[in-house]
Amino acid sequence: MSDYANEFARSIDDPDGFWLDAARGVDWITAPATALDDAAPPIYRWFPDATLNTSVNALDRHVASGRGEQSALIWDSAMTGTVRTYTYAHLLDEVARFAGVLAAQGVGKGDRVVVYMPMIPEAAIAMLACARIGVVHSVVFGGFAAPELATRIDDAEPVAVVTASGGLEPGRVVEYLPLVAAAVEQASATPRTVIVKNRDEVPGSAADQEGWLDWDTEIGSAEPAEPVEVAATDPLYILYTSGTTGKPKGVVRDNGGHAVALTWSMYNVYGISPGEVWWTASDVGWVVGHSYIVYAPLFVGATTVMYEGKPVGTPDAGAFWRVVADHGVSALFTAPTAIRAVRKADPDAAELAKYDVSSLRTLFAAGERLDPDTYEWASKVLGVPVVDHWWQTETGWAIVANLRGLDPMPLKAGSPSVPVPGYDVQILDAEGTPVGAGTEGNIVVKLPLPPATLAGLWRDEERYRSSYLNTFTGYYLTGDSGYIDADGYVFVLGRSDDVINVAGHRLSTGSIEAVVATHPAVAECAVVGIHDDLKGQRPGGYVVLKAGADIDEDTLRAELVARVREEIGAVATFRDVTVVAALPKTRSGKILRKTMRQIVDGEKYTVPSTIEDPAVLEALIDQLGS
Ligand code: COA
Ligand code: AMP
Repeated sequence: MSDYANEFARSIDDPDGFWLDAARGVDWITAPATALDDAAPPIYRWFPDATLNTSVNALDRHVASGRGEQSALIWDSAMTGTVRTYTYAHLLDEVARFAGVLAAQGVGKGDRVVVYMPMIPEAAIAMLACARIGVVHSVVFGGFAAPELATRIDDAEPVAVVTASGGLEPGRVVEYLPLVAAAVEQASATPRTVIVKNRDEVPGSAADQEGWLDWDTEIGSAEPAEPVEVAATDPLYILYTSGTTGKPKGVVRDNGGHAVALTWSMYNVYGISPGEVWWTASDVGWVVGHSYIVYAPLFVGATTVMYEGKPVGTPDAGAFWRVVADHGVSALFTAPTAIRAVRKADPDAAELAKYDVSSLRTLFAAGERLDPDTYEWASKVLGVPVVDHWWQTETGWAIVANLRGLDPMPLKAGSPSVPVPGYDVQILDAEGTPVGAGTEGNIVVKLPLPPATLAGLWRDEERYRSSYLNTFTGYYLTGDSGYIDADGYVFVLGRSDDVINVAGHRLSTGSIEAVVATHPAVAECAVVGIHDDLKGQRPGGYVVLKAGADIDEDTLRAELVARVREEIGAVATFRDVTVVAALPKTRSGKILRKTMRQIVDGEKYTVPSTIEDPAVLEALIDQLGS
């Protein structure tokens, strides 16, 4: 048997033994005697009798073992032309002092802190500082508008918000402070404190609002905080992600399972060793940023690169290759959209030829399907393995991957390869019956899920059960559909719900519909994820006007686009609006979104027998069909 097959079989046959072995990679305060608590299925917990501190695992233990002077974090901002390097000792000092700032404000174990930050080192410092004192962080992506921030503040009920004066987008400065002020005003929950990291490039400071605190002033006089002991099962963070309704889901991650599985993943999924330079080109606001910009690389004593910029236009399509060359990056992890953007701007890879990227061993991609065309192009121009892997905010780490630290299997274009040890991946039909090789169905994972996967949804166990656990008894529903081929390779074909994926960003069509529906001229609407060559998908809005509504289509489009940008944020990239006479529905009133998407994308479509009025669909095909 291969190393992979051995490890996989052991993880399924003896999960306790497998994960207790993996747990040796973590420094515990009380080491686990038990791996899995399966007393209350379908809810499972990992390492119920253990205690630890996550920031100690990311920082203190590396300083103690002699890595104090090694680079822990390299911040490279293409937006400001700045590079700042933190050694492990320096990062530990900053984290301990910012934890001291929080503690001085009365923030303590179990409290929540919302972090709304651009891609600056202080974002990672704030996260690790929370972890140090047992505070639960909830990072909100900077591309979300004030109402989305307010929704998350209301759900997490933070005692403090940590933010910066703003972010830098190409050609645009994003001022955060008016957004934070509006969100705090809109929210019913009332954070006691807002702490602001001032950036010279962005106007606004803590002084603008009474009671807000300045990061630099506070940290200058702070006492470093000692790490606090937490249970392995205590929450480390809440990360909100899009569900099928407008209300985001607060995915809860624990401390112990997270440290164990993420540490294991750096060696076995990514093949990274202590001291190597690792770069995840994502944003700390997404799960990829949590796991692989901040936590996992630091858990193993690697150097993590944090990049503020884009793959193209900052200043050109050589931006990624410049960072690889400048910092000697061993492995780069990004979204397929970013690779497509680079290819579009530089199809012959002329920019790549300008840099020495010989340090690069592997390119990892996730966040959306890596289409075979992009896979072939990247493999050819880079000459290194291009490794797709599939996962979700909920799981926190890869479900299916080509395990580069075990014995890597052959890569197959279009597939992220095979189930990662710990994940018993199966395909079920709508009735819950397993299907054979090559047949498409619901991708599910037999319970229990491995460590580091979601411990639940924040204060909403009912939604956790109904969203993931109740559809097929004994299985976790991923929400993706796909198939497993005869060699055991998993092919992920797309979401089976109303979640869409735009440039690797997960969005809910329901939340965009909710905003569009508030326009006074709109009677009803449907938003579907239509194919986009660069971003994978983009939201397309189909709108039925109220009888007598007197508005021309261009004005309506401009107003709807502005409304979505204001309510959800620029990241929704809502630009397509089409007025239609009616929406096709089933007799029970369900809008046929999938059929609409297939028509717009020029795919084969099936008309459900339950359709209410076939003439509506025919009219739509005439108007939209390609
Ligand atoms: N703060 C504020 N606004 C943001 C933002 C942030 N952190 N991130 C994106 N936006 C804005 C952009 O400025 C843009 O605004 P605009 O409509 O005024 O131009 C809008 O949101 C859409 O952004 P995006 O979808 O990123 O498109 P883009 O044209 O700016 O860039 C790519 C296209 C492909 C370069 C970019 O999407 C990319 O790098 N994608 C990779 C995504 C990724 O890393 N995903 C993480 C999962 S692994
Ligand atoms: P997020 O929770 O934002 O990470 O988005 C998770 C969703 O993105 C998954 O449910 C998939 O639909 C999609 N996704 C992520 N990675 C991949 C991949 N490698 N292949 C196909 N789809 C992916």
